[in-house]
Amino acid sequence: MANIVILGSQWGDEGKGKIVDLLTPAFGAVARYQGGHNAGHTVYIHGRKVVLHLIPSGILHPGTLCLIGNGVVIDPKAFLDELEALKAVVDIRDEWIAVSRTAHLILPYHGLLERAEEAALGEKKIGTTCRGIGPAYEDKIGRRGIRAGDLLDPVILREKIFANTAAKNEIAVLRGLTPLDPEKIFADYSGYAARMTPYIKDVSRLLHDTMRAGRPVLFEGAQGVLLDIDHGTYPFVTSSNSTAGGVCTGLGIGPSAIDAVLGVTKAYTTRVGSGPFPTELFDETGRLLAKRGDEFGATTGRPRRCGWFDAVAVGYACRINGIAKLAVTKPDVLDGLPEIKVCTSYLYKGTPLRDFPVEPWILERVTPIYETVPGWKTPVHGLNNFEALPSEFKDYLRFLEDRVEAEAVIISTGVEREDTLFRDERLAGLIDLNVVRCAVRGGA
Ligand code: GDP
Ligand code: IMO
Ligand code: MG
Repeated sequence: MANIVILGSQWGDEGKGKIVDLLTPAFGAVARYQGGHNAGHTVYIHGRKVVLHLIPSGILHPGTLCLIGNGVVIDPKAFLDELEALKAVVDIRDEWIAVSRTAHLILPYHGLLERAEEAALGEKKIGTTCRGIGPAYEDKIGRRGIRAGDLLDPVILREKIFANTAAKNEIAVLRGLTPLDPEKIFADYSGYAARMTPYIKDVSRLLHDTMRAGRPVLFEGAQGVLLDIDHGTYPFVTSSNSTAGGVCTGLGIGPSAIDAVLGVTKAYTTRVGSGPFPTELFDETGRLLAKRGDEFGATTGRPRRCGWFDAVAVGYACRINGIAKLAVTKPDVLDGLPEIKVCTSYLYKGTPLRDFPVEPWILERVTPIYETVPGWKTPVHGLNNFEALPSEFKDYLRFLEDRVEAEAVIISTGVEREDTLFRDERLAGLIDLNVVRCAVRGGA
């Protein structure tokens, strides 16, 4: 079986958590390669809701190796709190979790300065999650970051915390903020160090050993392709590579280890935070999607902006990630709509655009051109058999596949694991669906 990347093909919250959790039983390890606790991945198990932020969404299946790669930024307190909360829900052993010793840490000054920067930007703010993600990546690229491995050496940890806090306090004072006490930060982080030590490992080595033992690996993306620092709608992006390229640099594996990229795609579009969104709806339909789709941020609780499916954007995501297969989520939210619109091209200054423009000043001015398809009369909610799907829905799927040039292999029709159908013939050789189905039935 294959090693697969699962990533979001839009602006995040496509349902990655549900798909990763569902497929995990067929994999030996689930590895996060970027982002941090800005992510919010929701999983439902028989009505019980679990939201994962930093810990891979495979954790709800005991025995799965859950790896946090060097490309992730880690707030130790957030990690430890999340782990503790999860331990109350599911059996977790220390040896099932590993944090890369070269993953960078988030420190209190990151969140403090980010909140001040966002406030200073006023209406031009990025609308970040204010978790300190961007500033932590800034320090990484600036070659002054503190890494998980530094927690293992108190002398180095103290030296780095004092040097960094002094530099950040100079900025804090200029911005009228109260300086932070490095002694307190060191005391707190020493406490976290003691609790995190069992998890700090060589994640690249663990991944190689897993693959060499013939167990496939699932690489879990956070955020979405359009929030990628290089390929997204910069500057309204997150500060890491959420695209498939981030898997190699964020985990220490080579591209030949990746067999396929599965793009999780919502049947409409949502976005949290600022930035261009050509198909955004401000009308009754937009409010309906938000209400039915329960579109509130899983991390910040902010209402998500909603709009029609954008095939220009998702087609771009497929191209830059090598996505040939899609997991389509939340079509049930469109149940009962008489007709459904899909944006299939943009007009810019009267001229059709062939490609998705990433520049916000262009994206803000494009006119989305829609094609309208009929809705389906019987609901798809909860269906798990392809043959039972209404014919209008199958037509809609074929239409999307044609426009984005990728085929739907998984269709999610509700929040639960059971609310899913697979195109077995399209997944042959990639994922062991017998194992997945068996786990769904057994409630594992
Ligand atoms: P992620 O960040 O990509 O993991 O997605 P989120 O968890 O932030 O948001 C997706 C939301 O949609 C969650 O509340 C899921 O429970 C929910 N969801 C996932 N798949 C489906 C589906 O097929 N239908 C419906 N109605 N909800 C879904
Ligand atoms: P998941 O993994 C949706 C957005 C923020 C903001 C921008 C930058 O659940 O899909 P950041 O705090 O990362 O510097 O914020 O990115 N953002 C997300 N939007 N889902 C996410 O994660 C997001 N993580 C960050 O709203 O616009
Ligand atoms: Mg989310």
